Amino acid sequence: MARGRDIPAAVIEAGIVLIALFLAFVAGFAGWGIGHSTSHTRTVTVIASGTNSASSTPIDPHVAAGGHDFSQFACAQCHGFRGRGGVSPDVPALSTVARALTPAQLRHIIDHGLGESKNPTKPYMPVWGEVISKQQVSDLIAYLRAGLPSVPTAEPPAISQGQGLAVEGATLYVRYGCINCHGPNGLGGVPNPQSPDKTIPPLSGVAFRKQFNTDAKIIAVIRSGSVIGRAPIVSMPHWGGIIPDDQLKALVAYLKTLK
Ligand code: HEC
Ligand code: HEC
Repeated sequence: MARGRDIPAAVIEAGIVLIALFLAFVAGFAGWGIGHSTSHTRTVTVIASGTNSASSTPIDPHVAAGGHDFSQFACAQCHGFRGRGGVSPDVPALSTVARALTPAQLRHIIDHGLGESKNPTKPYMPVWGEVISKQQVSDLIAYLRAGLPSVPTAEPPAISQGQGLAVEGATLYVRYGCINCHGPNGLGGVPNPQSPDKTIPPLSGVAFRKQFNTDAKIIAVIRSGSVIGRAPIVSMPHWGGIIPDDQLKALVAYLKTLK
């Protein structure tokens, strides 16, 4: 924890100032080059932008890892950006949860999921136990206990727009964490040892296409999920009330481009 603080702040600051000066010099030089090569007289204004204070503030590596896990495992898609809520009335904010619950209770919830499991119109917190490691759950708990701070570069991936539905769907597939369970390119193969077929199904291949031969069938299962048994069996989360209709269509358009 203290490792990042070994370097005195003054040294870090001096380093940042030097880098800023260097960048300003390079930018100025490039500007001079452009000005001369086009033989027009140009005024190049170089603004040495303010340094990003977030990147120079050391952050506990476990809290940082938890912040990245919070994006990767789509916690933010149901619980809101930095767990601030506001996505669905059925999903609580997580801002104060670490004060209300013990680490053991938090671990149990993350491993086993929670929520309305039979009603397909309500979201159901995924069962992550078979997919997320003990270390990752510990990091998530560290992040919750630290008050869900901002962690640079841990934002969920942006949604591509204006590039067609399939491209939008590809980014949603990562943003909603589908990729963690169904694998890159929908290849499947993620272990689910207690389920009948011992693995989370692929979203590609002949068998999938045969069973899910209409858009409506695919959309129905994404929205309502399926509870194939009790945790620790991983089941398909309910995304009802979370993923809007236009995004469901984009996800389907993406899935249809797969093998
Ligand atoms: C598909 C939506 C969804 C996703 C994704 C999701 N959750 Fe949840 N979560 C819920 C719902 C719904 C509840 C509330 C269940 C209830 O109380 O009925 C909940 C409850 C919780 C609670 C208990 C809150 C309380 O006040 O009792 C914690 C802690 C939690 N989630 C953490 C997480 C973490 C960490 C992640 C990411 C690893 C995550 N959730 C991902 C839907 C989701
Ligand atoms: C926590 C793991 C998990 C996540 C996250 C998840 N799924 Fe699933 N999904 C499953 C499991 C397990 C099944 C199999 C359910 C069954 O057999 O009843 C499944 C089934 C499906 C099916 C039906 C395929 C079949 O052969 O039964 C589709 C389509 C699907 N998921 C799409 C998605 C999409 C799209 C996302 C992201 C929005 C997503 N899933 C996120 C675990 C997950």
